[in-house]
Amino acid sequence: MPGRYQDIYAQSIDDRETFWADAANALSWDKKWDKVIDLDAKPVPRWFAGGMVNTCYNALDRHIEAGRGGQNALIYDSPVTDTVAHYTYNELRDEVAKLAGAMRARGVGKGDLVIIYMPMIPQAAMAMLACARIGAIHSVVFGGFAAHELATRINDAKPKLILSASCGIEGSRVIAYKPLLDRAIDQATHKPETVFVWQRPQATAEMVPGRDFDWADECAAASPADCVSVAATDPLYVLYTSGTTGQPKGVVRDNGGHMVALHWSMKNIYGVSAGDVFWAASDVGWVVGHSYIVYAPLLAGCTTVMYEGKPVGTPDAGAFWRVISQHGVKALFTAPTAFRAIKRDDPNAELMKNYDLSCFEALYLAGERSDPDTLQWAERHLQVPVIDHWWQTETGWSICANPRGIELMPIKYGSPTVAVCGWDVRVVDEGCHEVPRGKIGALVAKLPLPPGTLPTLWQNDERFVSSYLAEYPGYYATGDAGFIDEDGYIYVMSRTDDIINVAGHRLSTGAMEEVLSGHQDVAECAVIGVHDDLKGQVPLGFLVLKAGVNRPDEEVVAEVIAMVRDQIGPVAAFKQATVVDRLPKTRSGKILRRTMRSIADGESYKTPATIDDPAILPEITTALRDIGYAREAAES
Ligand code: COA
Ligand code: AMP
Repeated sequence: MPGRYQDIYAQSIDDRETFWADAANALSWDKKWDKVIDLDAKPVPRWFAGGMVNTCYNALDRHIEAGRGGQNALIYDSPVTDTVAHYTYNELRDEVAKLAGAMRARGVGKGDLVIIYMPMIPQAAMAMLACARIGAIHSVVFGGFAAHELATRINDAKPKLILSASCGIEGSRVIAYKPLLDRAIDQATHKPETVFVWQRPQATAEMVPGRDFDWADECAAASPADCVSVAATDPLYVLYTSGTTGQPKGVVRDNGGHMVALHWSMKNIYGVSAGDVFWAASDVGWVVGHSYIVYAPLLAGCTTVMYEGKPVGTPDAGAFWRVISQHGVKALFTAPTAFRAIKRDDPNAELMKNYDLSCFEALYLAGERSDPDTLQWAERHLQVPVIDHWWQTETGWSICANPRGIELMPIKYGSPTVAVCGWDVRVVDEGCHEVPRGKIGALVAKLPLPPGTLPTLWQNDERFVSSYLAEYPGYYATGDAGFIDEDGYIYVMSRTDDIINVAGHRLSTGAMEEVLSGHQDVAECAVIGVHDDLKGQVPLGFLVLKAGVNRPDEEVVAEVIAMVRDQIGPVAAFKQATVVDRLPKTRSGKILRRTMRSIADGESYKTPATIDDPAILPEITTALRDIGYAREAAES
């Protein structure tokens, strides 16, 4: 790792207290920290212990006081409603303060939890910031999740208030959100006291008297709320993410460390400063949306773009180029799958020629492995650096990136480049011994983790420790496998668990299996992620039916597909399943999902020595070939 970055990185590891204190001094504190890092805190060390802050103040009011009140803070670009709207820092602060006042008037205060179930409209960002303003903890649930998933999160988070909207718009379809929310509240054992609904013109939500209130009316009647000082270590939000079971993990983010890390990342990783236009084409329901649509660009005084549309079809594969040129976007962050969709519809990027992209400086990709083909296609057509970076919901910002703001390092295709400042990434074997360079193992990070990373799971220290800290003592287990090369470049190859990545969305095959097992005719099942040219991976189900079931397989398959859509949501993209006589297992009864995936993807595979009955693998291969998979699969 040669050059300027090496020195800065070395300081971040060898003298982390000075490094992060310097970064923290760029922000405004109600009271400075007692300790930059409290190494004795449990279950993990805590950053800026003793400090008092307000994240919303730092994201909005601070810039207004510095004279940026008239600058655009947020541009809402919605091809699906044919709308472009601009909010200056003054306007955004005023909207946020009014909503915060309305929530306060309904009894929400410091430490209360608020669920946000919203489409990609400015009110979603306002909702997050309004919670931060009064010290309430938000938990955003992605709109593509169905009622049951929402109910699971309501039960775990126990919100006092839910903020929602009448509908989302997916391409040309209007998706009514309120009936989904009503069903979720019916199913949940915990009941929120209050619901605010933002009525959109495309659908009118029916209101439950006494519980549901019109968002706009509530704000009109409210007096604006000021920022409330909270401890740097207090939670800012909880964001649920897929674990290996149907019970999602509530990743907790604190105020102080989060604010410092994200602010630092904008300049040093993304190369943008106050006044620049930054666009993360994601959704506020995901961590990318939390960090890089809402918090980081605003903490840095940038203008953030909130895009309610798709990379293709709204109206065409030129949509991204239109947004970049119309709003003067300097850096774009999206998932590789969005570029695969654009490349598929417009292979020679003809539509790019209609737009002036001279403002554009760099493209950042994350959320799934960037395939070199797509990355090179983007480089060739955009003629700017295309930077793959690796991170997770848990980490809140990147573990590994090309630190373009400090020094653009040579790009190696297939690698998200090097460890980011504060991250001491290692590769270890099952016994927690470091493996030689170039050898694949578990990717882990030496504790303490840098600021901004999860301090625990929502009200569940035990699960936090068992999920992330117990397996490799002294290290955080990322759940990814990969290797580090001679130059210190990190390669992220696959997950070590049953999590799959569908169109940049993280999903649990375990959660889907729980749904399939709930079908009356299913005796046993397995779900694996198989390769998909557009979405990277898609789920595929295997069903073993109960003895005596005498119905066409297609009927059961159609029913389980509908069940996953109904219980998890359309975002699971669970559209295929096949009925088999039995599943391949080890002698101890563990289903051989990895072998099944290799066969489905047409790779060569080894029959595991622990397999109970090797004769099952040819049966599985035949079943997969019948539905178009496993063409080239062969035993090696
Ligand atoms: N509310 C309701 N439904 C939603 C939704 C939302 N917020 N988001 C997605 N869905 C639905 C979609 O309508 C689709 O439903 P369908 O099965 O009826 O068609 C399903 O969930 C799957 O959605 P998606 O994964 O977005 O697939 P798609 O086929 O509609 O679009 C891409 C494919 C590649 C264009 C799209 O996935 C994309 O733009 N990806 C960008 C990556 C991204 O934003 N990643 C986030 C992390 S950085
Ligand atoms: P999420 O929590 O939804 O952001 O998903 C995190 C997971 O996505 C990681 O653990 C990786 O498996 C995968 N991922 C994210 N970014 C990358 C990347 N740049 N390269 C490879 N895998 C990635």
